[in-house]
Amino acid sequence: MAVVKIKITDELGEQSCIDATVGESLMVAATNNLIAGLDAECGGFCSCGTCEVMVGGAWSKHLPEMKTEEIDMLSFTSTGQEGCRLSCQICITPEMDCMEVKVVK
Ligand code: FES
Repeated sequence: MAVVKIKITDELGEQSCIDATVGESLMVAATNNLIAGLDAECGGFCSCGTCEVMVGGAWSKHLPEMKTEEIDMLSFTSTGQEGCRLSCQICITPEMDCMEVKVVK
């Protein structure tokens, strides 16, 4: 399986470069790497909002469209900053190699 690199800044401000397998969610890649602040309490069912990340502007074109469930969950839990997404709803694609994201707390 293809693997890409994701540059992720955790809630403490520490940056890591993690491996993410194409086809898995960004949340799974982040939790497998024990990224601080990305709790993912619901396990990826879009029902907790604790996997929120901010994706840098230029990378947003590579993200999937938001489904209604994600929009609804972010309306309850998000700080509302531009570029915020639920990482469990982002499926890794080859185009995301070297994408920069930041954990939102
Ligand atoms: Fe719960 Fe993403 S893991 S909303």
